[in-house]
Amino acid sequence: MPEASVPRRPRDVEQNGLGITEMLALDGGSKVRNRPWPRWPVWDEHEEQAVLDVLRSGRWWSVEGDRVHTFEREFAQFVQAAHAVCVTNGTAALEVCLRALGIGCGDEVIVPPYTFIATASSVLSVSATPVFVDIEAESLNIDPSRIEEAITPRTKAIIPVHIAGRPADMDGVLAIARKHGLYVIEDAAQAHAAEWKGRRVGAIGDLGTFSFQASKNLNAGEGGIIVSNDADLADRAWSVHNVGRTRSGKWYEHHVVGGNFRMTERQAAILLAQMTRLPSQTETRTRNAEYLTELLSRIDGITTLPADPRVTRHAYHLYVFRYDPKHFGGRPREEFLQALVAEGIPASAGYVPLYKEIVFQRKTAGWADGVRPPAR
Ligand SMILES: Cc1ncc(COP(=O)(O)O)c(C=O)c1O
Repeated sequence: MPEASVPRRPRDVEQNGLGITEMLALDGGSKVRNRPWPRWPVWDEHEEQAVLDVLRSGRWWSVEGDRVHTFEREFAQFVQAAHAVCVTNGTAALEVCLRALGIGCGDEVIVPPYTFIATASSVLSVSATPVFVDIEAESLNIDPSRIEEAITPRTKAIIPVHIAGRPADMDGVLAIARKHGLYVIEDAAQAHAAEWKGRRVGAIGDLGTFSFQASKNLNAGEGGIIVSNDADLADRAWSVHNVGRTRSGKWYEHHVVGGNFRMTERQAAILLAQMTRLPSQTETRTRNAEYLTELLSRIDGITTLPADPRVTRHAYHLYVFRYDPKHFGGRPREEFLQALVAEGIPASAGYVPLYKEIVFQRKTAGWADGVRPPAR
């Protein structure tokens, strides 16, 4: 429909009761939100001191310092895991887990398509094949009832993602995994402190991964961690993240092919300080999200995701809702998003289903199909 023929509906001042403006900001009205949003990340002299202490100690390397090890212990305890291995980021965490499980060429790994690219690209990075299994409409997480039909003799693992911070159906995923002898790697990059039936996510499956990238609920700029209740798997992950060394082996003794995925002491120092804020920040997110849900559920055409009593803690890394254009004069979702952004409310359309991403349309996973030979 041409722009000019879209009906322009002035904001109804009586109805919204706020009396801020008569027109949408998109149509020339004033913005709903003019004040800046709260700063993220949140820090004070505790983080400053923690970083200074590492700097002045000269021990910037986890092999010499104690911050990384302390954070591993604290985070493991927080997610009710016996073991943890800090790594450079959440993408590396997934790759290390896959290598630790011996997954590689010819193997298949089941992943949901509605997630950040790393969930599936980590599988390609170890030369295995990601197999997409669709999500549930209500939770946006992998649908356990569709997993079995995707299992083949090559399937080695399932990676459920706790998308937006809402736990996936771990009972459903684990039941199928145990029946077929598959590993479960929880991608909990967005789900720090989230709980499935009272258990913190991450250590419910065989291995779990978290991200500490700048936008995440626990933030060190970059960073990641692997958690597990299985000592052997945790040791394997440790080896892979430390160029194939073993915990008890000599420095120049390499048992498997690994990489250098070690976290720095500066990252861990920030994370230790940020950890003290996580419980109260999670409470605030929950309160705010519940308030938003209550308000949004009053608006025709906006559908919030239904609550699930098995989700005893949603981490609310992202807040997701559905938009039905029928209730908004047929204005497409893109325009609705533009209108929100114009009002000063950051919003996005969410992830593109990964099978539609350009990388998955290519014949090869890398540049190999388009690289020219070097000039002679
Ligand atoms: C679901 C999911 N998995 C994995 C990652 C990768 O984490 P990182 O950015 O730390 O590599 C992210 C980060 O955005 C994510 O959201």
